[in-house]
Amino acid sequence: RALNNVLLTAPKAPLTYTSSVQAGAQSGIQECKYQFAWDRWNCPESALQLSAPRAPRSATREMSFVHAIRAAGIMYTLTRNCSLGELVNCGCDNSRNGKIGGRGWLWGGCSDDVDFGDRISKQYIDALETGQDSRAAVNLHNNEAGRLAVKSTMKRICRCHGMSESCSIQTCWMQLSDFRDVGNHLKVKHDQAQKLEMDKRRIRAGNSAENRGAIVDAFSSIARTELIYLEDSPDYCARNLSLGLHGTEGRECVQSRDSLSQWERRSCRRLCHECGLRVEERRTETASSCNCKFHWCCTVKCDTCTQVTVKHVCARRTGSHGQHKRRGNGNKSVH
Ligand SMILES: *[C@@H]1O[C@H](CO)[C@@H](O)[C@H](O)[C@H]1NC(C)=O
Ligand SMILES: *[C@@H]1O[C@H](CO)[C@@H](O)[C@H](O)[C@H]1NC(C)=O
Repeated sequence: RALNNVLLTAPKAPLTYTSSVQAGAQSGIQECKYQFAWDRWNCPESALQLSAPRAPRSATREMSFVHAIRAAGIMYTLTRNCSLGELVNCGCDNSRNGKIGGRGWLWGGCSDDVDFGDRISKQYIDALETGQDSRAAVNLHNNEAGRLAVKSTMKRICRCHGMSESCSIQTCWMQLSDFRDVGNHLKVKHDQAQKLEMDKRRIRAGNSAENRGAIVDAFSSIARTELIYLEDSPDYCARNLSLGLHGTEGRECVQSRDSLSQWERRSCRRLCHECGLRVEERRTETASSCNCKFHWCCTVKCDTCTQVTVKHVCARRTGSHGQHKRRGNGNKSVH
């Protein structure tokens, strides 16, 4: 639904690119869900209705990531498809081919044309921000930070030439990284996101020139690569359906000692304990055939084996209702 909204509301975007834009927005959302799988806020569908004007969306830290990863996904997919020759009016970026790039290497081959992806994704995604207010400015800034992440994670790929692969000369081109690298990069930017401090007196004065001026001033100290937000995040522990938040009750967490990262290992603490919930172990048994033997002739006899899978889920503490003692607030927690 979020995707269709993008397509319906984008004004001057050429139709030929719509399937790439759609796929790109989708991959951005998938990446968001991956990156936030073990966070209190886990990129719920309710957060992704980006272009529905009725839904009041706040410019929180989490929404800064949503804007950035979506813009990045769209730019990424357009650029990739372009290099694959699937789109009209674009191809490889050969503009530097033949020129010296550095010691022992020349530009050559098919560099991904990120400027094309950049330009087209802007037409789709930035066009959704029609407001003149600080929120629109923040969203546009975060879109741009997302696109810059695609550029800054690009890799130089080289091929050797010269006598019997002596590699005396190389040709190199710039290639998109895996989209996962873009996601990782933006997750770090999310963790470091800065709150935009506006001059409240000038905003309250209310006239649009003062408004614009206050916005420009507030942005002047912030690099284009950084994510920014305006409003503090709500308490993601708690269920609040009017904000579209489901809370962490019922969420799964990982409790095995050999789980992948520290972030995952601490997921039960972050999602359950620090939200005033306990960790409940849920066992499910699944029966399946095993130890099958072939008998002459012609039957197969099997045993039934039950396999127990253990899940850990945040659950309400028995005997307590509603209010709990809580440590920490929002999505950030003690690392
Ligand atoms: C572009 O890429 C996406 C997936 O990466 C695909 O779904 C889409 O159909 C591609 N081609 C065109 C012409 O959009
Ligand atoms: C949901 O959030 C809003 C805004 O922060 C707040 O005013 C309201 O009291 C909350 N509702 C519940 C049930 O906590």
